[in-house]
Amino acid sequence: MFSLPKNVTIIEVGSRDGLQNEKKIVDTAVKLAFIDALQVSGIQEMEITSFVSPKWVPQMADAKEIVENISQFGRQFVLAPNALGVQNAIEAGAKNIAVFVGVSNTFNRKNINRMTQESINRLRPVIAKLKADGIFVRACISTAFYCPYEGKIKQEDVIALCKQFVAMDVDELSVADTIGMANPRESYHLFKSLKSKFPNTLITAHFHDTRRMAIANIFAALQAGIDRFDTSAGGLGGCPFAPGATGNVATEDVVHMLDTLGIETGIDVKKVCEAVQVIEPHISRRIDTGIYQLFQNGQL
Ligand code: HMG
Ligand code: MG
Repeated sequence: MFSLPKNVTIIEVGSRDGLQNEKKIVDTAVKLAFIDALQVSGIQEMEITSFVSPKWVPQMADAKEIVENISQFGRQFVLAPNALGVQNAIEAGAKNIAVFVGVSNTFNRKNINRMTQESINRLRPVIAKLKADGIFVRACISTAFYCPYEGKIKQEDVIALCKQFVAMDVDELSVADTIGMANPRESYHLFKSLKSKFPNTLITAHFHDTRRMAIANIFAALQAGIDRFDTSAGGLGGCPFAPGATGNVATEDVVHMLDTLGIETGIDVKKVCEAVQVIEPHISRRIDTGIYQLFQNGQL
């Protein structure tokens, strides 16, 4: 029979990954209301915003206001690509930092304008200082399966990159299928290998749902022992520098599946849908995830 965990932690990325590629600039007050509504649903870990260049990602230009005005709950991450981003985040009051690097050089250059190894080398002293100061550090690993520019990524390259972050004593690796191309076999093998190689580091899976494979990939990752998943309410999301990538897997779809499997998340799926209702009028796309549709029709 399947080997499944009893509990799963959901890391909501809706106000960060979910909105970063949204063309219509969403008011800071709306983002904060969205975050509050998500928190009411029971979510305890969340990526809230990014300290990146506002020229590159205009939607995240209010990162400082978000951190300064957010209600405190659980573990709130902010993304930062470099020393300046980390410094700005800490000055604003961020308590947990997520750095991000792509396995593929071409993607990394398009995303943060550096080769992968150069990014890692520059982050090493930054992470050492964060850890010395007792800050929780999450390392987000992009293009861990496929790159929109370089194609299939070798598992050994992902492992080698993760090993460098583990040597820096990061608390968590969030390993991403950036363009939603992985299949369940690839998901199982990579996550099984990461779990066995890095038993003392939290390992999280981050699936985009471009080909509607994310739920299947999550089920495969669960069997590989993964019990942490990044998801986005309403299935919002996508990286502006990863052509072809659509939204993240929807929080409500994942929570629903886990509920039906008897796996505890502490999250109320209907309340996640209520949070989606908060953000939907402020974004340019229609939200058509399965569980949200049922909720809208009163069938959930
Ligand atoms: P750059 O142009 O190479 O930076 O951009 P630079 O170091 O040459 O500096 C140029 C200017 O940017 C300077 O300002 C710096 O001060 C400023 P100027 O003198 O011209 O006025 N600058 C910054 N401003 C604000 N915050 C900063 C910062 N750093 C420098 N942190 C940079 C390099 C990294 C800044 C740029 O490429 C960038 O902002 N990229 C962000 C890309 C991004 O946000 N991507 C999406 C997040 S990752 C993701 O979604 C994937 C994930 O979900 C997992 C998955 O699905 O794969 C995590
Ligand atoms: Mg992403």
